[in-house]
Amino acid sequence: MPSPKLSIQTTTLWEYSSQHYGNTEQGSSTYRGATPSYVIWNLLQRYTKKKDLVVDPFCGSGTTVDVARDLGRRGLGYDLQPHHSGVFKADARDLPLEDGKADFVFMDPPYGDNLTYSGRPECIGELAATDPAYFEAFEKVFAEIDRILKPGRYMAVYVCDVWKKQGFVPIASIMSNMLAQRFLPVDQIAVVRGNKDLEKGNYHKAAEEENFFLRGFNHLLIFKKPEAGEVRRVRVQQKTENRDRNDGAGRSGDCGRAGGGRPDRSGGGRSGGGRGNRGGNRNRPGRS
Ligand SMILES: C[S@@+](CC[C@H](N)C(=O)[O-])C[C@H]1O[C@@H](n2cnc3c(N)ncnc32)[C@H](O)[C@@H]1O
Repeated sequence: MPSPKLSIQTTTLWEYSSQHYGNTEQGSSTYRGATPSYVIWNLLQRYTKKKDLVVDPFCGSGTTVDVARDLGRRGLGYDLQPHHSGVFKADARDLPLEDGKADFVFMDPPYGDNLTYSGRPECIGELAATDPAYFEAFEKVFAEIDRILKPGRYMAVYVCDVWKKQGFVPIASIMSNMLAQRFLPVDQIAVVRGNKDLEKGNYHKAAEEENFFLRGFNHLLIFKKPEAGEVRRVRVQQKTENRDRNDGAGRSGDCGRAGGGRPDRSGGGRSGGGRGNRGGNRNRPGRS
């Protein structure tokens, strides 16, 4: 079946009913966790021009490289487990690229340990999102992106939050705060998930009975590296710390409400994977 017509998304809610555009594949539909190519296509249309160097440190099956080629950009991918001739083996925390070479950086990293990739110890997908080491790894990844990106150019992170029996991890919010320490926030997009698992009746039944939500969208976080002299936004972390110092009483009152507004899920019977964390939680539209 031909893919639907591709067009520039103009709102902060993106949707497209196919993993690929045109008559061929970008990246590989057989690669677990491949990125929907229209997301990268839209970003490159907006934030790059012909011949720009587009870098993806978690490039897997090479979707970014293929979209860059289609649009006349130079694509350069890295991954621990390359699955494309234009993707080179490297750790995203230590890229073999000189400072300030990239015109745009896109990344779709592991969302905690929701999928198994190479299984190598350096694979960030071996770390649960509840493990502090997961976000410590991204401190290093974001520092590396800061190093390779030209000032005044853009980067984007495509990511999904995680809910497991142990609790909800707002990966996108945490990463957004981390990124705001280095870059200027440009915008945040909700990308509708087209995962087939969301159509399964038993998933919806479990979500209702066990009081959790199936993940309906991915986040797309867009940031800009400031140019020399460009003012950075106030650091979110610092503001929060100041408020904690000045307003301790009010906050403890809020937190004192029963359960902090969160239902007790300790009796929930399903593992994270049951709701699609292993396959089902990923936002991979339209693999029809
Ligand atoms: C969601 S997939 C990316 C898919 C890719 N965008 C595509 O369309 O094929 C996440 C990727 O991160 C890679 N990865 C995990 N840890 C890594 C690390 N430390 N350095 C580089 N790549 C890593 C995995 O091997 C996997 O290919």
